Amino acid sequence: MCGIIGILGKAAAAPLLLDGLKRLEYRGYDSAGIATLVNGHIDRRRAEGKLANLDTLLQRDPLSGNTGIGHTRWATHGRPTERNAHPHATSRVAVVHNGIIENFQELREELEGLGHKFETETDTEIVAHLLTRYLDEQKTPEEAVAAALPRLHGAFSLAIIFAGRDGLMIGARRGSPLAIGYGDGEMYLGSDALALAPLTKRICYLQEDDWAVITADGAAIYNNGQAVTREIKQTALSGALIGKGNHRHFMMKEICEQPAVIGDTLQVFLNPLARTFELPNLPFDFAAVPKVTILGCGTAYLAGMVAKYWFEQVARLPVEIDVASEFRYRAAPMLEGGVTVVISQSGETADTLAALRYAREQGQHIVSVLNAPESTMARESDVVLPTMAGPEIGVASTKAFTTQLTVLACVVVAAARARGAIDHAREAELSTALLEVPARVAEVLNHDATIRDIALQVAEARDVLFLGRGTSYPIALEGALKLKEISYIHAEGYAAGEMKHGPIALIDEAVPVIVAAPSDELFDKTASNLQEVIARGGRVIFLSDADGLRKLGDKTFAAIELPKVDPFVAPILYAIPVQLLAYHTAVAKGTDVDQPRNLAKSVTVE
Ligand code: G6P
Repeated sequence: MCGIIGILGKAAAAPLLLDGLKRLEYRGYDSAGIATLVNGHIDRRRAEGKLANLDTLLQRDPLSGNTGIGHTRWATHGRPTERNAHPHATSRVAVVHNGIIENFQELREELEGLGHKFETETDTEIVAHLLTRYLDEQKTPEEAVAAALPRLHGAFSLAIIFAGRDGLMIGARRGSPLAIGYGDGEMYLGSDALALAPLTKRICYLQEDDWAVITADGAAIYNNGQAVTREIKQTALSGALIGKGNHRHFMMKEICEQPAVIGDTLQVFLNPLARTFELPNLPFDFAAVPKVTILGCGTAYLAGMVAKYWFEQVARLPVEIDVASEFRYRAAPMLEGGVTVVISQSGETADTLAALRYAREQGQHIVSVLNAPESTMARESDVVLPTMAGPEIGVASTKAFTTQLTVLACVVVAAARARGAIDHAREAELSTALLEVPARVAEVLNHDATIRDIALQVAEARDVLFLGRGTSYPIALEGALKLKEISYIHAEGYAAGEMKHGPIALIDEAVPVIVAAPSDELFDKTASNLQEVIARGGRVIFLSDADGLRKLGDKTFAAIELPKVDPFVAPILYAIPVQLLAYHTAVAKGTDVDQPRNLAKSVTVE
């Protein structure tokens, strides 16, 4: 997935395009480029790698023109080279694209047969050539787009400019998000409102299969051959660029923000005086819900996995959970009256969105846990439960994860009460436990220096194992995911009890084994697994509370003492040391912490 932006401006477009791309870099950073119309001709600047390279190029070789489009790329088809960087262009048209054109090969062969010469390995270049073919047939830009769109299979959002047509830009979306921004005598296109926030607050989100002809006067929007109107909304997103504060990386800043943002999130759902949990008006009664289905990708999925334990243990509610990308292919029959909970930081992840739509077709109530209240998933949900994490810039998710857990914990307690699975006394106890989480997380952050020292050892490892039982199992998975993502060290998370069925074969002195084991009712069993590791010379890094450390701390290679809390909230706390461990390991290895290779923050392709 990629970020796209377009501007029909009154002044030079290039600086504004570059600024917009800075806000879209979370969508990909394999290459970047912009194209403008200069005296009616298409001119381009493109650079491999981070946006900073394009910035340097533009300083050396500026680009004039008031009409332009820009792109930041996460490579799908074709290596991340300058040649494959967007915009893709012919002498007549320039295109930026987010998504995948699935039938590009057959269209390419057709056009090559007609004499078109292709320069890149991308799927996108086909769009530029297809439009050129129609323009060569004397179609107008509008006619060319209307003819080309039905021929494209797959998912896309597109922004297109045309040689000789200053003041015209065409945008289209199918599957991938695209927003139109209305300025003062200027018009914009962007993958999201965030990219446009410094330019305008007046935003219109295109709907599925919409395409729009944009001029300085406004936008004419079409769908299925008809002119349509779409509401222009006032976005609440801030135009300010987010800084790192005193931190070296966004990831560390975001880790440190967790006490505050977990507190902000609790305020939305928890009444601290009554010690009750309050959800927005639900179009269903949890008491009558036969089953909850939880869907998400990556870290969001792992938050859902913790929630599965919670729903089942505390609310006595059957739960099924799957990664969104697989769920949709299972053709899962869903129970009438069921609730589907989708979890997503961005609200735009293509697989999660498709799974949401599948669940909707199956008649499910859709509840989404989102950090982006203006996202596509928000618009397609019955109920949006916001995480109050604020913008998360680091590609590896940290504060979004713990605030997702916070929201889900509140939902579970509210559901448990509605179902009569717990009484008010237990609800009050759980509310107290949750209200203490921000302070306890702050205590865990105090172990930063110790974790940094441990990370120096972990940085030497080739393989790392994370183990946990119960709700610590998803935390083990999250620890392994974080470490892989940013330090590039191979790591696996395992259910502690499963270790003897496979990963135990890996254990020797060179493999650090991180064990998350709060002293709950599962502690003794996890302790046995830990002994099995130690017996084989494994180096255990032990995360537990004072009771756990008293029992086993002296046998381990290193130990971090976490506060003793109600086991219900433990996974929120135990997420912190695994984040810090991944962070410091990556810093020790010198990898790009905030923008790790090959990843992107928001994945809008399947
Ligand atoms: C990408 C990110 C992960 C994130 C996942 C799901 O893989 O790198 O950090 O957990 O997408 O994203 P979402 O926006 O749906 O939470």
